[in-house]
Amino acid sequence: MSVVTAPASALRIGPIELDVPVVLAPMAGITNTAFRRLCREYGAGLYVSEMITSRALVERNAITMRLIQHHESETPRSIQLYGVDPATIAEAVRIIVAEDRADHIDLNFGCPVPKVTRKGGGAALPWKTTLFADIVDRAVKAAGDVPLTVKMRKGIDKNHLTFIDAGRAAEDAGAAAVALHARTAGEYYSGHADWAAIGELKQAVTSIPVLGNGDIWSADDAVRMMAETGADGVVVGRGCLGRPWLFGELASAFGGEGVHVDATLQFVAAAFRRHAELLVEFFEDEDRGCKDIRKHVAWYFKGYPVGGELRAALARASTLQEIDDLLGTLGDAPYPGAGAEGQRGRAGSPKRTALPDGWLDSREIGSDTGEMMRGAEIENSGG
Ligand SMILES: Cc1cc2nc3c(=O)[nH]c(=O)nc-3n(C[C@H](O)[C@H](O)[C@H](O)COP(=O)(O)O)c2cc1C
Repeated sequence: MSVVTAPASALRIGPIELDVPVVLAPMAGITNTAFRRLCREYGAGLYVSEMITSRALVERNAITMRLIQHHESETPRSIQLYGVDPATIAEAVRIIVAEDRADHIDLNFGCPVPKVTRKGGGAALPWKTTLFADIVDRAVKAAGDVPLTVKMRKGIDKNHLTFIDAGRAAEDAGAAAVALHARTAGEYYSGHADWAAIGELKQAVTSIPVLGNGDIWSADDAVRMMAETGADGVVVGRGCLGRPWLFGELASAFGGEGVHVDATLQFVAAAFRRHAELLVEFFEDEDRGCKDIRKHVAWYFKGYPVGGELRAALARASTLQEIDDLLGTLGDAPYPGAGAEGQRGRAGSPKRTALPDGWLDSREIGSDTGEMMRGAEIENSGG
């Protein structure tokens, strides 16, 4: 299978020079150090942590402190923060920088989950222009020499778009790059990402890199997105679920070679096994690691002749030995082509975005906004 290639191009995010313009999208519950290491073993680029709540970091929550750890092989190290309060976010950034815990920090303004937007957090926040600018400004100042980037959606819904204003505000505040998931919060993960919006953002934000995100399922898609939008780089999320070698294909496409991995079943099984082993190492707990790999089973074996019983057994295994025994019964099968490609992970249908009362009446914050947003900084499941 041939792949479209693009000329070699690097991406610079502040002082970080990447050989390929590729970023692993932060994904809660997925992009822990185990998955990041696995992806990196195949490719190149920037691999962002799952979202970390700034308040939990400031409070030094034990789980959070574990989530922000990187393996020694991970460089540059990247942490994504989520928050709503400028002071707390700035303090979280200060801790990361003072304790030398990352080389790059990303701020998440893309979360569409109702329990977050209902309080004015996530993708609802950039609607409040001064609050958004204040957060980015204080975070950039706290970050000092560590580049700070912003990840956002198009806006709340098609009548309340925020990405152009937010992109410009982030640029003015000194952000090192902006990334756009080209859907509104209301679209959730439905339909198609609106790549034209990435092109519009690229026109509006001219002094820092603009990264495009949404619906990159293959290296061809990544090359096409950059060509169609003028984006400086791509952010790849669901497309690499169960397919960490996509990062190798991306590096190859941007390196001008365009090698496609026609993954045989044994190749996939080896990647799955390695992922499980890295999860066990990350959790320092075999049972935990084997439980965590369960959510990846369907993604890895999508399109391959692996029966329901074996899939179910893999999703029940609680030791690496059990996983090995099950994988040992698989045999081999050639790359199945289209069946193994395409969409995977979250999809869903559009939803009306839950917001605080009166949120859309003004783009300024009012005296009661702080009160309204209390509780917006809670554990949630991403962007
Ligand atoms: C399981 C899952 C968890 C996610 N968690 C986060 C997150 O923690 N932070 C964030 O900014 N976006 C998060 N996202 C959104 C992705 O980073 C990305 O913007 C989105 O999936 C669109 O890109 P894609 O089409 O390449 O998947 C998450 C997405 C998924 C599917």
